[in-house]
Amino acid sequence: MLRARLQLHQIHFMKIGPHLLANRLFVAPMAGVTDRPFRQLCKKLGAGYAVSEMVASNALLWKSEKTQRRANHVGEFKPIAVQIAGADPAMMAAAAKINVDHGAQIIDINMGCPAKKVCNVAAGSALLRDEPLVQRILEAVVNAVGIGPDAVPVTLKIRTGWDREHKNAIEIARLAEKSGISMLTVHGRTKADLYHGEAEYETITAVKNTVGIPIVANGDITSPEKAKTILKITGADAIMIGRAAQGRPWIFREINHYLETGGELPTPEINEIQDIMNTHLLDHYEFYGEHIGLRTARKHIGWYCKGLRDSHAFRQRMNTADDCKTQLQMVNDYFDEMKSHSDCLLFLEAA
Ligand SMILES: Cc1cc2nc3c(=O)[nH]c(=O)nc-3n(C[C@H](O)[C@H](O)[C@H](O)COP(=O)(O)O)c2cc1C
Repeated sequence: MLRARLQLHQIHFMKIGPHLLANRLFVAPMAGVTDRPFRQLCKKLGAGYAVSEMVASNALLWKSEKTQRRANHVGEFKPIAVQIAGADPAMMAAAAKINVDHGAQIIDINMGCPAKKVCNVAAGSALLRDEPLVQRILEAVVNAVGIGPDAVPVTLKIRTGWDREHKNAIEIARLAEKSGISMLTVHGRTKADLYHGEAEYETITAVKNTVGIPIVANGDITSPEKAKTILKITGADAIMIGRAAQGRPWIFREINHYLETGGELPTPEINEIQDIMNTHLLDHYEFYGEHIGLRTARKHIGWYCKGLRDSHAFRQRMNTADDCKTQLQMVNDYFDEMKSHSDCLLFLEAA
């Protein structure tokens, strides 16, 4: 009986430091995608945790409009997690502190992003090549915010290594544990892989079997069935989903349901998709304002429409709208038209 209760506890609950999460389904940080409106939407639709888009550790950028917006967590469901990126231990420590002062309850260090902008300054996954520097960064950030009565947990996100010949996720995981990192996310690709090929999970399993800190599996988790399989084969404490949630934030609800009941939820009705999208877009416009909101909404609209009838032509039309009100009207007209086609969701399922 006690064992059964403990198992149930393991299945449903996950903690990062003192923060108890609603479940173990995480939204991956995606620069330009997982802004506050999108994170909030995913959390409403069943994600237990979301990490913000990364914030540069360079102090010169702190006052930029973009960084200020990324640091805006007003009304966001807790815990608030902010991701920082950089290659200089002192700058990373300072960035962690300033974000904690602005409300971050968890600091995540990005060593997983292969983006040129990050890697040119040897940050993101480029750091994986330099283990002593990794250790200095981890220790500097943990010492800055992760110790004492107001300690904030520091987490780390990595890839499996620099390239397939240099996979050092296990060594980095050991360093992370030794340095006081509270949780480690592993994307099952190397830096050199970029997003090519398929994510592999053997390295994630090996990491989980090596260290005692919570491990999060990430990469190519696109369905409830795959989520369950990855949790099982890696033994990971949680899974993190990125691209599969673009235009499909209800994936978290679907995975939750499947993990809890073994049953599949039906694809949402087109009416519900339209409602979700309207809520998302209104929040998006409010967050970014007219000028930026109009432009940054386009990719989300494109993802919601992916696979629907004539979506390509619709997207081209929609891109010509020059204010948010017209854009929203065009989206709703398109969805209203979709409702007259009984097969419109078949397109979505095949996408
Ligand atoms: C558009 C985009 C932006 C991303 N930005 C970040 C980022 O800011 N920080 C980070 O750690 N990873 C970033 N990633 C990587 C994702 O967090 C995730 O590790 C990767 O997409 C693999 O997960 P998935 O297959 O579920 O998408 C980004 C990925 C994408 C597609």
